[in-house]
Amino acid sequence: MANPKKFIITLDGPASTGKSSLAKRLSNKLGYIHIDSGSMYRAATLFALRLDPERILRPNIFVKYLSEIKIDFKKNHEEQKIFLNNEDVSHEIRKTYITNEVSNVAKIPELRTFLVNKQKEFGKNKGVIMDGRDIGTIVFPNAECKFFLTAKVEVRAKRRYLEQLKQGINQTYKMVLDNLIMRDGLDTKRVNSPLKKAVDAIEIDVSNMTLDDVYKKLLTHIKKIK
Ligand code: DC
Repeated sequence: MANPKKFIITLDGPASTGKSSLAKRLSNKLGYIHIDSGSMYRAATLFALRLDPERILRPNIFVKYLSEIKIDFKKNHEEQKIFLNNEDVSHEIRKTYITNEVSNVAKIPELRTFLVNKQKEFGKNKGVIMDGRDIGTIVFPNAECKFFLTAKVEVRAKRRYLEQLKQGINQTYKMVLDNLIMRDGLDTKRVNSPLKKAVDAIEIDVSNMTLDDVYKKLLTHIKKIK
């Protein structure tokens, strides 16, 4: 049975606004489940590319195999791990070849329907914080608490570039910036559930805020609802 005290929190916005880190921190604080919906699109991208020996995306073939995709999340020492057909792919899905293809996979309508249904399932008992692009608009239009984070693309690129340096990913700032501009374009212009602020979402421009400041601001809003 749904817990009446818990609700659904949605956190949408373009790439590298800190959504996942914030959602993770909030979920630990509130005792909520955190679902990073972007990682589901990434896992599906890995699945799609593995169907082809040359790792070329073939949407017509891919859609025939959707029912063979099983995605689970498991928490291991505060770390959220994602499993694709029982294989831990948490590390693999962050690699550049996935990042470069994921927006093309995410625009396939059959995949979106498939993953949105799974995402709704995760929220059926409430107590969920989910981050992504269409969570407040399409996945949980009736969520009690919705946020939409924005930030200048240069600020996001710098953040992502520094993060990747730490992880040993070898991309220049310019490559990161170009990739974000490309993904922003694909995410906002696609026909199916584009990146868009829900009318009832609280919009926060995080360009000049630390992650800590944003976290405190989100928590203040959430506490008002509780
Ligand atoms: O948040 P991320 O960068 O890991 O997301 C990867 C891609 O997945 C991103 O380019 C857009 C897509 N995505 C989506 O279309 N809808 C979502 N709810 C989440 C992500």
